[in-house]
Amino acid sequence: MRTVAELKAAARACLKAGKPRQAQAVYAQAVRQARAEGWGQADALVLEALRQLASEDAAAAQEAAEAALALSPDHREALHCRAEAARRLARAAGDDRACELHLVGRVARYRELASTIPQEGEVVVEVGASTGETTSRLARRAAKVVAIELTAHNCARLRTRFGATPNVGILQCDAWDLGTVAGRQPRADVVFIDVGGSAPAGRMLDLARKYRHLLGPRAMVLRNTELNDFVDSLASHEQQAGVGRWSHPRRRPNRSEAIEP
Ligand SMILES: C[S@@+](CC[C@H](N)C(=O)[O-])C[C@H]1O[C@@H](n2cnc3c(N)ncnc32)[C@H](O)[C@@H]1O
Repeated sequence: MRTVAELKAAARACLKAGKPRQAQAVYAQAVRQARAEGWGQADALVLEALRQLASEDAAAAQEAAEAALALSPDHREALHCRAEAARRLARAAGDDRACELHLVGRVARYRELASTIPQEGEVVVEVGASTGETTSRLARRAAKVVAIELTAHNCARLRTRFGATPNVGILQCDAWDLGTVAGRQPRADVVFIDVGGSAPAGRMLDLARKYRHLLGPRAMVLRNTELNDFVDSLASHEQQAGVGRWSHPRRRPNRSEAIEP
């Protein structure tokens, strides 16, 4: 007879292979097995939430996750299930949630944001992890961090550094290989992108846009000095320019509403 852990792994494999019905059945078996093995009620509820997520019933998954959190408020997997269910419900309601974009120039500021933006239970994808300075900050807050890095040399250092950190996964690939990224991590709450601060600005905006559509995060942090300087220069230009004629991007003002110089 398979253990609950084995059943969970098998269900995840079914999901990965695009077999949700099979995953659902295996999760149901895991719920029964957990009860038979005398697992805690919170863990059994989390398995139930996972089963409901596999069956695409986000409302029921949310309910089960909430019930688990009522019993065990710090339960990581329950937090993850609740966040995932909320995301699916929002999407089903046509709420393609707004994504806040943080643009930074200095790496020190980027790392600072790694210590403040992720919330408990969230999944973070970090693009351009280098040797893991930002990764370690992210891992202290997030439920899961997928660190993407291009070079084999840096990946080897990341594996050594985070080998014993269960919530960090290393993915060696090109950030532009979106199929590989989505295959490993199909969604994220937060995305951090730093493939070098002086990377071409237009390419970086394109990459940020692609990750936004691919993973549906609620927040993104992008490090690029050129973009950051450009936005800063706009801000100081606007301060100097004073009040001029302007129009709302969605609604042109009537002539009488336009602000005259
Ligand atoms: C400036 S470092 C990131 C520093 C990191 N944010 C930190 O806090 O230490 C940029 C990293 O992005 C990686 N990189 C560059 N191009 C990449 C690509 N196309 N895909 C994935 N990683 C890439 C580089 O190998 C390098 O390790």
